[in-house]
Amino acid sequence: MLHSYIAGVGSFVPPNRVTNDDLSRLMTTSHDWIVTRSGIEERRFADEGVYCSDLALEASKKAIADAGISPSDVDFIIFATLSPDYHFPGTACYLQPKLGLNMVPCMDVRNQCTGFLYSLAVADAFVKAGMYKNILVVGAEVHSSALDFTDEGRDVAVLFGDGAGAVIVQPSPGEESGILYSELHADGSHAKALHMDIWDISRKPFLTPESCATRERWPTMKGKVVFKHAITRLVEVVNSTLAATGVGADDIKFVIPHQANMRINQFVAQMLEMPQEKFLHNMQVYGNTTAASIPLLLDETYRAGKIERGDLLMLLGFGSGFTWGATLLRW
Ligand code: ACO
Repeated sequence: MLHSYIAGVGSFVPPNRVTNDDLSRLMTTSHDWIVTRSGIEERRFADEGVYCSDLALEASKKAIADAGISPSDVDFIIFATLSPDYHFPGTACYLQPKLGLNMVPCMDVRNQCTGFLYSLAVADAFVKAGMYKNILVVGAEVHSSALDFTDEGRDVAVLFGDGAGAVIVQPSPGEESGILYSELHADGSHAKALHMDIWDISRKPFLTPESCATRERWPTMKGKVVFKHAITRLVEVVNSTLAATGVGADDIKFVIPHQANMRINQFVAQMLEMPQEKFLHNMQVYGNTTAASIPLLLDETYRAGKIERGDLLMLLGFGSGFTWGATLLRW
């Protein structure tokens, strides 16, 4: 049976570095508070006028080049983001002409920090069905425009950064390599644990000067609830993925987890009795880039020469929704 593999990877972050000390000049916080709670030391923020699709474009060009194809070979675009260029249409439709790919089908996936894993599973299914052969899957975020940099929003604002990561998904050339298994989950009963109220379509009209002046325009998060559920669900999904595939934890070279919070990932490794070194991190320098975090870390790990053909990797994500999932792949 046809199955898919990741044929090319790329990532991009905007150049503007924002340290914890920079944030402490805008709100009451400190480098120590942020590092102790999250592991994050700095993040990148896009400049005024930069769209999510602009970051995605740079990452996509690198993934396309890495796969050894030209942009015109791409036959489907899947775009994962929670910070789209506009409310509609989907951001894939803004990326498509920037890549010079008019007429290629486009789809957005709105699954927040698990968006990349959902997108990858969709791409894998398309390849298995024989529908498409060069699918661009991109996760990108411009969070910095929608964070409250006052004391009221500091619990959320210090965690997030901007960036993009992309892969090209193709039919696997061999039996052995590629995406072996994907598991996706959601529990919408916690939708309000990390959310933004402003786009409330039940209101007529849905936006008013009054609603725009309230805190509805900023994301809100029940931090401890997210923290607790993230650990529980991530441990569960790793165990069920290992059980379903018959793979042992020792066989996995690296876990590439979503980069929300260092403590979440450390707890997960500890509860699974897996070595901490297997769980890779780059949130120290990028913060939480939501749908971009997994492909961004995958790209950096690959470019650092840490992954060899044949290595087993587990991609792992949890986020707003709640949504969570795991992908097991042989590089
Ligand atoms: N700087 C200083 N103080 C702060 C800040 C800040 N940036 N943010 C909140 N505080 C204050 C609060 O006002 C509160 O003060 P109070 O006790 O006087 O009311 C206090 O710090 C809360 O401190 P803690 O209880 O120690 O906070 P906690 O240990 O829960 O850490 C955090 C908060 C970091 C948000 C944590 O709950 C967390 O990481 N949760 C997971 C959330 C997450 O990772 N979200 C990412 C998005 S979802 C995803 O991608 C998985």
